[in-house]
Amino acid sequence: MRIVCIGGGPAGLYFAILMKQLDPAHSIAVIERNRPYDTFGWGVVFSDATMDNMRAWDRPSANAIQKAFNHWDDIELWFKGRRIRTTGHGFVGIGRRHMLNILQARAEELGVELVFERDVKSDAEFPDADLIIASDGVNSAIRERHKSAFKPDINIRPNRFIWLGTEKAYEAFTFAFQRTEHGWFQAHIYKFDDRTSTFIVETTEQTFLAHGLDQFDQDQSISFCESLFADVLGGAKLRTNSRHLRGSAWLNFSHMVCPTWHTHNGASHVVLMGDAAHTAHFAIGSGTKLAFEDGIELVRQFQKHGSNADKIPVVLNAYEEVRRIDVARIQNAANNAMEWFEVVGRRYADVLEPEQFMYSMLTRSQRISHENLRLRDKDYLEGYERWFASRSGINADPAERGLPPMFTPFRLRGVTIPNRIVVSPMAMYSATDGIPDDFHLVHLGARAMGGAGLVFGEMTCVSPDARITPGCLGLWNDAQAAHWKRIVDFIHRNSAAKAGIQLGHAGRKGSTRLAWEGIDQPLDHDNWELIAPTPLAYLKNGQRPREMDRADMDRVRQDFVDAARRAAGCGFDMLELHCAHGYLLSEFISPLTNRRGDAFGGSLENRLRYPLEIFAAIRAVWPEDRPMSVRLSCHDWYPGGITPENAAEVAQMFKQAGADIIDCSSGQVWKEERPVYGRLFQTPFSDKIRNEVGIPTIAVGAIFEADHANSIIAAGRADLCAIARPHLADPAWTLHEAAKIGLTGVPWPTQYLAAKNQYEANLRRAEAAAAAATEAAVAASNRR
Ligand SMILES: Cc1cc2nc3c(=O)[nH]c(=O)nc-3n(C[C@H](O)[C@H](O)[C@H](O)COP(=O)(O)OP(=O)(O)OC[C@H]3O[C@@H](n4cnc5c(N)ncnc54)[C@H](O)[C@@H]3O)c2cc1C
Ligand SMILES: Cc1cc2nc3c(=O)[nH]c(=O)nc-3n(C[C@H](O)[C@H](O)[C@H](O)COP(=O)(O)O)c2cc1C
Repeated sequence: MRIVCIGGGPAGLYFAILMKQLDPAHSIAVIERNRPYDTFGWGVVFSDATMDNMRAWDRPSANAIQKAFNHWDDIELWFKGRRIRTTGHGFVGIGRRHMLNILQARAEELGVELVFERDVKSDAEFPDADLIIASDGVNSAIRERHKSAFKPDINIRPNRFIWLGTEKAYEAFTFAFQRTEHGWFQAHIYKFDDRTSTFIVETTEQTFLAHGLDQFDQDQSISFCESLFADVLGGAKLRTNSRHLRGSAWLNFSHMVCPTWHTHNGASHVVLMGDAAHTAHFAIGSGTKLAFEDGIELVRQFQKHGSNADKIPVVLNAYEEVRRIDVARIQNAANNAMEWFEVVGRRYADVLEPEQFMYSMLTRSQRISHENLRLRDKDYLEGYERWFASRSGINADPAERGLPPMFTPFRLRGVTIPNRIVVSPMAMYSATDGIPDDFHLVHLGARAMGGAGLVFGEMTCVSPDARITPGCLGLWNDAQAAHWKRIVDFIHRNSAAKAGIQLGHAGRKGSTRLAWEGIDQPLDHDNWELIAPTPLAYLKNGQRPREMDRADMDRVRQDFVDAARRAAGCGFDMLELHCAHGYLLSEFISPLTNRRGDAFGGSLENRLRYPLEIFAAIRAVWPEDRPMSVRLSCHDWYPGGITPENAAEVAQMFKQAGADIIDCSSGQVWKEERPVYGRLFQTPFSDKIRNEVGIPTIAVGAIFEADHANSIIAAGRADLCAIARPHLADPAWTLHEAAKIGLTGVPWPTQYLAAKNQYEANLRRAEAAAAAATEAAVAASNRR
């Protein structure tokens, strides 16, 4: 085959090396517009794991790179006059030029033709090539030429950065944060040889403009950064090697994805590779790794299917299919990290103490969790756990294991919740006349005994016509109150858990069947009248509600107040107002469901008027020393609906009204919603509201392991974690998760103590067996 790589960066060179090795008969040329020793940028860094992968594919280049590498394990934070360091992270750094020179030498040795100083204008310049690799970087001209085939989606990110270097070797991957009168700047600093470090300075567009940096030339920018980071530079000078850039050299990162990676130009197959195909923000340093791994995968596919020209279509399809998944995973982590740096100033740096700021930074990509940190640096993690526990009033003996964050208590007004795990409200559709009966006693009682700190009953309706289904619970009469009191008393008598009630009104989503008989489907008979802010049915075949008038509003407000009074009498410790999931109060908040023209519709302030009126009326009768939460749908997942930005404004208004905590859910407001599910998918809403609005939050949604909850709580992304479906599967979820992470001090109900030791011992035995099996598998593969 005749193969031409346009662009001699890591992607083009590495692919050429591996492909030439696969079959030296291939004619392979790498065409690069620069000279061999020119290169923009300073050093790159990647993880030990990337190096292992490269060694498996081309030992000589991996060994040469390895020899030139600077290896280090530490991350150090400079923040608010403090320096905090952790270890065990395993990075390697190398000068970009040195790395490319190693790859160039290796390519030449194998017989790859290297052409320098040729600026390729078009892939049509190589009509006799079977395969053209567009490895010409993020601004790929080849991708641009075939824009209609590749359909690149480019998102220019708001932050500004400048890529500098300094002749000072930092011992740790260093992150330095500096506040100015106009906002925060951060520096990402890592060494790449014995004398030199990369020094990237980043800030928001707003801060960049406020300092007039858009008017600065490179030398002025350098002096600005030198004086800003004088302490961390310790007298060293900053330098640029991108004099070729016009203007100030402060760039915006382009996040780029392409739905298609290969095409045919009429003469040759053309395939994107490396930054030409996708970008990953430097915050997790994976761009070079992705470029190498693209090359590896394309060669692997040729190896698998045969490296002949007729195999190219099948190979390119397979390459794209395999790489797309891995690239999406890394891009996702890089995006999390990138977004962390985009909001770091106002969301974290202004708010968090240095210890928690460090933890938040280390877990910014959400790929590194609490238990990962324990593996990397046990002393740091345990020290942090003790620090975190001391913030909750627990001063653990330094000789003993610290209490993981999810097991620390949390106080709201006069109520101390013994740990951070909440049984999320879950409708069971199993009541008759709204009465919580033996089923509810056993269901909620079991979950309280199962170790959660706070057990919420399901959405409890404030009148018969406020119910979702005929099986929903209520609190509109004294009989219901008496049954509720029995459950609350049981929880208090038999566990340390606090009891919460969620009050709600179904609005337009009422009068439907039990979930397992057709969720949201209207009843076949005995429907009741529905009311809503606007007369819009939820489903096409659903019942159309009547538009609420003032008399309806007064009645519903009174129903909420009466139910809240009864709830106080039952002894509930906390009351949650259900303003989420498209039920009545959520319908008022969302512009999709509230189209009123009066004082209760229109602006966000108007749409909040009625929910806030209800909140204030309940707060007035709910005991002063007991907290109230508000559950919000923080994202309608539909154009024109509530966004997380709006949700923060809503939370701010509830905070001003006296809410103690916001329970951050999302969706179920608009039938045509398009939510993006995934692990911890709603936690970003909680993070935003907690740290930008300054109010405690509950995170909920696909949190299903202690490691998730510990990571969320420790990083300050929420104060409590609500767990729903895992609690249906396992009433003792909290006790079992404690045992899984080896925490034996969590109290079990005395009646069940006989099982505790056996349960813990069996877990340890299973772990030991799994570890032995892994060890045996590794030994066997080493022998092969
Ligand atoms: C500030 C910053 C820090 C970074 N830090 C890291 C890090 O720590 N770790 C990491 O892994 N990655 C890092 N990266 C990303 C990394 O540099 C890229 O992801 C990686 O270089 C991509 O390799 P590539 O071969 O696809 O593209 P490039 O490295 O961009 O190579 C493309 C090559 O094509 C050449 N070229 C372009 N057009 C033409 C043309 N028309 N004709 C001929 N030649 C052409 C260019 O001169 C260039 O040599 C960082 C990026 C930035 C901006
Ligand atoms: C069976 C079931 C019933 C639910 N009922 C309610 C409810 O009454 N009120 C409410 O706010 N959320 C309700 N939810 C949503 C959960 O509280 C929770 O937000 C959601 O299930 C996501 O958490 P998870 O991923 O841990 O399941 C319900 C969820 C389930 C699975």
